Amino acid sequence: MDGNRRWADNRGLPRLSGHQEGVKTLKNLVKHVAAAGLKYLTVYAFSSENWNRSNEEVDYLMRLFGKVVTDELDELAQNNVRLRFIGDIAGMPADLQNYFATAIEKTKDNKGLSLQVALNYGSRLELAQAMQAIAADLQAGKVAISDIDEQLIASKLYTRELPDPDLIIRTGGEMRLSNYLLWQAAYSELYVTPLLWPDFTPEEYDKAVTEFAVRERRWGL
Ligand code: FPP
Repeated sequence: MDGNRRWADNRGLPRLSGHQEGVKTLKNLVKHVAAAGLKYLTVYAFSSENWNRSNEEVDYLMRLFGKVVTDELDELAQNNVRLRFIGDIAGMPADLQNYFATAIEKTKDNKGLSLQVALNYGSRLELAQAMQAIAADLQAGKVAISDIDEQLIASKLYTRELPDPDLIIRTGGEMRLSNYLLWQAAYSELYVTPLLWPDFTPEEYDKAVTEFAVRERRWGL
């Protein structure tokens, strides 16, 4: 969800208010894709590198995440949305971890859209933690070296219960993955738009999906 601060800068607004606008965009998009019957949507809200931003911005974002999850929980639950979080959630503030646990529990049986929020997420960290988990299993004699295959690795990732993404949309025009779902994106289609996240309307999402639908996916063939 790139481009919130640039969006605010372009309008002469306080930079951080761009994140507030980004929340509105996310709400509209979630409603739209849930109604369209999408099964999985994962949004990158805070990377493990984003802690390097100013204290003011990090505090603002943490408060915003807590507020959005608590304010929107009832509506998400009513709309049959299942909410999950991927990332090193143990490294998030304790009050947020509590809100997240409540949201996960309340929506765990919902069968509509599965919405994942990536927070304190970094792909390399995820892979390092997966390797630690496998090494611990190895040491405990639960697995043998020859058991280490793609499936076992995937089973140790935060995304273990999720399919790989078909389409990754990046707003804000940057042509890179920025440590996002590196393992899972092996065969994902990429769509980069110069639009800033607050300008990414449901119509723009539909455009991305229409383009995705005519791409030929070859899976290495
Ligand atoms: C990137 O834009 C955006 C973020 C780091 C924060 C995104 C968070 C939200 C939209 C809130 C969503 C809330 C929940 C609970 C999912 P940027 O700051 O990098 O903008 P720039 O590229 O213009 O600098």
